[in-house]
Amino acid sequence: MEHTTERSRTAVRAARREPLRDRAVRVLDANWTGASTVPSRTLYPHQWSWDSAFIAIGLRHVSPLRAQSELETLLSAQWGDGRIPHIVFNPAIPLDAYFPSPDFWRSSTAGRAAGAPAAVQTSGIVQPPVHALAAWLVHRADPALSRSRGFLPRVYPGLAAWHRYLLHRRDLGGAGLASVVHPWEQGMDNSPCWDAPLSRITPAPPRTFRRADLEHGTADDRPTDIDYGRYVRLATDYRDGEYADGQGEFAVEDPAFNALLAASEHALARIACELGAAGTARHARAERLTSALVRRLWDPVAQMFFCRDLRGGALVPEYGVAGLIPLILPALPRDVVAALVRTARGPHFGLGGQVRLAPSYDLQGPAFDPHRYWRGPAWFNTNWLLEHGLRLHGEHAQAARLRTALLDAAGASDFAEYVDPYTGAGCGARGFGWTAALTLDLLGPGEGTS
Ligand code: SER
Repeated sequence: MEHTTERSRTAVRAARREPLRDRAVRVLDANWTGASTVPSRTLYPHQWSWDSAFIAIGLRHVSPLRAQSELETLLSAQWGDGRIPHIVFNPAIPLDAYFPSPDFWRSSTAGRAAGAPAAVQTSGIVQPPVHALAAWLVHRADPALSRSRGFLPRVYPGLAAWHRYLLHRRDLGGAGLASVVHPWEQGMDNSPCWDAPLSRITPAPPRTFRRADLEHGTADDRPTDIDYGRYVRLATDYRDGEYADGQGEFAVEDPAFNALLAASEHALARIACELGAAGTARHARAERLTSALVRRLWDPVAQMFFCRDLRGGALVPEYGVAGLIPLILPALPRDVVAALVRTARGPHFGLGGQVRLAPSYDLQGPAFDPHRYWRGPAWFNTNWLLEHGLRLHGEHAQAARLRTALLDAAGASDFAEYVDPYTGAGCGARGFGWTAALTLDLLGPGEGTS
């Protein structure tokens, strides 16, 4: 036993001497299934929607063909109403490897009215719309290959339908923003931003489901059982209503989700131009989304974007990292940009000061926990977005420091799912897909998000 541990420590030390790029490529190779990439072989053994988009952004530097396939595979599971499901299940994986499994979501029956595909099992909720942005960046990595395979003509109709779904069926507040109907949709599952809107939800009783995540990770790094009970209740109700939108008890306008939608709408405009159509209307729509974000979610006194709880009817005054993500938008008013950069550097997020990477939640918030999933740890995708946002708005020194810190943390943690924002110590899964992919992107030729 001792001997094995010593041998594996030696192997880890040897692996860390390998160039970071090679190590990141090895993670993506190990997580590749032949048509797409799993976020983690243990904790997340299927295809996840926003993971795949971030993974494609990194994969384009290694294999533009695989990056294209990643997005095409995801889109082949798109529903008739335009939604891209948050998980596409691999039928070769045993049902008990991940919860909630296909027999929970029952997409091909409960989702039939919404146009769920018959041939593949998926979840029925969505995740942030990073896909058009990813498709544009993947195309730009190898335009000749993209044109020869007809990549953009293949993906454009699905991406356009996806945005249409979000902008119409999900505009539950009627103000021009998309709403999420489950915390998993926004992607930052147990963020304290959801505590108030979730407090109204009666949790499903613990004996009615069995979590698989705790078999692979430290319980302290994961959401609590009471949160899981609420996630299960919301997903069950959505399924039992045949995934029809607008009826659920949870409906929130989130700044990161909508900022990514606007950034992706700009990307879709570029894709349309490349395909010979006019992109002007799409750019205008992205700018309208940006204005709606400021009108609905910007708090000028707090100098922060907050979530709007549609069922409770108010902004949720919690400093989650989602509120900094609108920095990726080119049309954000200059005074909002300046205020947001001040907030990122200030005591709530400590960027450039007491932390290595921006935490997922307010360092000063009562619910802050440096290790528990989205209640404090630093994540690589959010910090990658911030790096791009800072660069876009001319904050080059801050962006460069963040880039270095991201690369250091990714390498030292063996591409952890997330890290303690103060120490960089790894939490959650290792060999995590988007951590490796975004490392490659930061090392790569350096395409912007615009
Ligand atoms: N992130 C969620 C999980 O932990 C759901 O996508 O499984």
